[in-house]
Amino acid sequence: MPKIGDIVLPEFPLLLAPMEDVSDPPFRALCKEQGADLVYTEFISSEGLIRDAAKSVMKLDIYEKERPVGIQIFGANLDSMLRSVEIVEKSKPDIIDINFGCPVKKVVSKGAGAGILKDIDLMVSLTEAMVKHTHLPVTVKTRLGWDHDSIKIVEVAERLQDVGCKAISIHGRTRAQMYKGEADWKPIAEVKNNPRMHIPVFGNGDVATPEAAKRMRDDYGLDGAMIGRASIGYPWFFKEVKHYLETGTHLSPPDMEERVRAARRHLQMAIDWKGEKLGVFETRRHYTNYFRGIPNFKPYRMKMVTSDAAEDVFAAFDEVLEKFGNYQFV
Ligand SMILES: Cc1cc2nc3c(=O)[nH]c(=O)nc-3n(C[C@H](O)[C@H](O)[C@H](O)COP(=O)(O)O)c2cc1C
Repeated sequence: MPKIGDIVLPEFPLLLAPMEDVSDPPFRALCKEQGADLVYTEFISSEGLIRDAAKSVMKLDIYEKERPVGIQIFGANLDSMLRSVEIVEKSKPDIIDINFGCPVKKVVSKGAGAGILKDIDLMVSLTEAMVKHTHLPVTVKTRLGWDHDSIKIVEVAERLQDVGCKAISIHGRTRAQMYKGEADWKPIAEVKNNPRMHIPVFGNGDVATPEAAKRMRDDYGLDGAMIGRASIGYPWFFKEVKHYLETGTHLSPPDMEERVRAARRHLQMAIDWKGEKLGVFETRRHYTNYFRGIPNFKPYRMKMVTSDAAEDVFAAFDEVLEKFGNYQFV
């Protein structure tokens, strides 16, 4: 079974991907309840952390019930990264993850995220310094390479392992691809098949169906799947994948009652965590997926995403249950 330091994960674990503005504590808790074996926070700026920027510091909150949890940080400056490791440790995560994969211009232009794929020596030395600076296991999330012509992920992964990285999650795209095209899992399988590799190698990118997760396990031999977009507003995806991997059959999708219950809990946890205003605002992006596919749903969705008061959103949930309670999801 895959191990990250002393953390033992089940066979072919499912990981919730770090996703900015999505993987916050309420969402992570819901995914955990539905079968995610390891969850990661949104990425947190090391520069923000050391400046004590409120947005970065808030992202450090974790609930006990979501463990094991990894806090992900990004940056390219060694001193800032080491100081932020010390700050992160105070939140007592189980893992510290380094983001070497974010393709966004404002991150990359500072040499952070996927920007570091242009300087593999720096990527390795930063990782080594962070490993030495903390007692927590350090993991890395990255992409295949900067662009198609510079894919050296087998060598890169081996070097990261040699400096003490305890697991690696690889998104099967290059930085140049951003989110275009299909994720290519072959180079990730090459990392896994390197006989010198002994740390877990997790595959990421386009695991959008239970069948895709099965292919990642059976055809590519990876140690687990990291799941991002397929879980947004649909935390049941983890349970559905697990069921399929175990039985080869599909679970029925959650009915309306279960969806409304999840949406309510999501909103309530968000309000408890960050107050009504932010809680109402930041949970909005999930509702489309919770209630996807229902005909003539627009007025209800509009109410959910435009109301500022929690009680109006809760009232919209009640109306939905009353009106569409028998809707058959496929
Ligand atoms: C809304 C959104 C936010 C993301 N934020 C992060 C992030 O903070 N850190 C990170 O490493 N990757 C981030 N990613 C990338 C995902 O972790 C993942 O690598 C990517 O979505 C591919 O996986 P998927 O096809 O399962 O979604 C983000 C992706 C999305 C869609």
